[in-house]
Amino acid sequence: MAQSVKGMRDLYGSELRAFRLVEDTARAAFARHGYEEIRTPILEYAEVFKRSVGESSDIVNKAMYAFKDRGDREVVMRPENTAAVVRALIEHKLLGSSDPRLLFYIGPMFRYERMQAGRYRQFWQIGAETFGIGSPESEAESLLLLFEILKGLGLTQLKLSLNSVGTPESRPAFYTAFRAFFQEREARFCEDCHRRIGENPLRVLDCKNEKCQAALEGHPVITDYLDDSSRAHHARLKELLAALAIPFEENPRLVRGLDYYTRTAFEVLSSDLGAQSALLGGGRYDGLVKQLGGPDTPAFGWAIGLDRLATVTQQVRGEVPANPPALLVPLGATAAMEAMKLVQQWWDQGLAVQLDTRGLALKKVLPSADRLGIGTVLLLGEGELAEGIITAKHLATGEQETWKLGEVPAKLACPEMPLHARHVRE
Ligand code: HAM
Repeated sequence: MAQSVKGMRDLYGSELRAFRLVEDTARAAFARHGYEEIRTPILEYAEVFKRSVGESSDIVNKAMYAFKDRGDREVVMRPENTAAVVRALIEHKLLGSSDPRLLFYIGPMFRYERMQAGRYRQFWQIGAETFGIGSPESEAESLLLLFEILKGLGLTQLKLSLNSVGTPESRPAFYTAFRAFFQEREARFCEDCHRRIGENPLRVLDCKNEKCQAALEGHPVITDYLDDSSRAHHARLKELLAALAIPFEENPRLVRGLDYYTRTAFEVLSSDLGAQSALLGGGRYDGLVKQLGGPDTPAFGWAIGLDRLATVTQQVRGEVPANPPALLVPLGATAAMEAMKLVQQWWDQGLAVQLDTRGLALKKVLPSADRLGIGTVLLLGEGELAEGIITAKHLATGEQETWKLGEVPAKLACPEMPLHARHVRE
C-alpha cells in the first residue's frame, strides 16, 4: 500500500479542524493589528538560507531538503520563512522608505529532522514579521498580537522565555569570556560543541546534549556583556511586558537555532508538548535585510509551530466539533427535484444546508446523518410538498417540528438556537 513520505502527514478530520480554528483565530488578530499577508514560494535558492539562518546552524547543516533542479541550480524546500520574506521584500523593493511593513504568513516548512513526537519533516508555521521599526514598543506590540492569538484559543498557562543576544559588535567580548570558560572544561562537551565553539559559540548554549547542558553550569551570561543601547532596549522591553501583564522569565541560555538574531530572542514553551516543547520562537534580526543585500532595516518577528499549537489547542479545548449544516432529505423523485430548486435558493441566500442526493429510504438516512454528526434533518416528502411545509427533525433530542417552507431560512439562522443547530455561514 502506498504511504505518505516519512515525517509528512495528511491532515483531515478533527486535527484539520483544529488547524483551521488556529488559522482563523490568527487571521482575525492579524487583521485587527493591521498585518498584511505575504506568500512566498516553497522553493528558494539555497543561498537565501545559508546566508541568513547560517552555515553553522543545524537547520542548514543537517536539515535542509536541498537538491539540484534541472538547470543545475541548488534549490531548497524552505526550512523557515523569515529569510524568504526578506528576500521577497528586497526583490520587490518594498523596503527603504520610512514606512513600516507589518506582514504575516501561514504555510508549510520542511526540515529533514530526526523523527520525534511533535516534530515533522513537513510542518506548518504561522509567522509575523515587522520591518522598519527598531523600538522595544514594536516588539511589545508584536508580542501582544501573539498572546492575543494564544489567549483567543483558550491557552493561558504559557510563559515567555526571554533573552537578549546583543549585537554583532557587543558579542566578541562575550565570546572571549565564554571561550575561556569552555576551555577550562572542554573535555565535558560533545564533539559538536567543539566544532561550534569555533564557528559560533552561541550554538554551544543551545546544545541539546544533557552532559553539555550540565557542563554549562555557571557560564558567563550574555546579558552581562551587552552594549549600553542593547541593555536599555532589553530593560524597556521587560518594563513594557510587565506593564502589559505578559508573564516572562529571563533565560540566559536561550539563543535560538538560527544565526540572524540581534538583541531580543524568545520562545514560548508548553508543558503539554513533552520533549518538543517549543510552541513558537522569534526575535529581532536587525542585520538580516542588509546581509541579504537590502537597505539597513530593523526587523522583528516570530513563528508559531502550527502543528504543535493545534495539538495544544485540542488538549485545552477538546476536539473541535465538525458542526455540519442541516441535511435536506427529499423523499421520492418529485420531492428530489423540488428540493434542489429550494436549496438552490437557500444557498443563494447564504444559508448552509447539505443536500442528500442518495435517494435512500428514511430509515437508512437518519442513522447515517446521526453518524455524520448532523444536528437537524429537513424532510421533504410528497405530503410536505402538497402543504408547503418541511419536517425538521433534531437528531440530538429526537424532537420534530413542521416549518413553513418560507420560514426555513429564518429558522436555520435563528440566533437563539443552540450553536450545533445554527447553520448560517458566519
Ligand atoms: P524556529 O524556532 O526554527 O524559528 O521555528 C519556529 C517554530 O516552528 C518552533 O518553535 C516549532 O514550534 C515549529 N517547528 C520547528 N521545527 C519543527 C518541526 N520539525 N516540526 C514541527 N514544528 C516545528 C523560525 O523558524 C524563525 N523563522 C522564527 C522567526 C520569525 N524569527 C523571526 N521571525
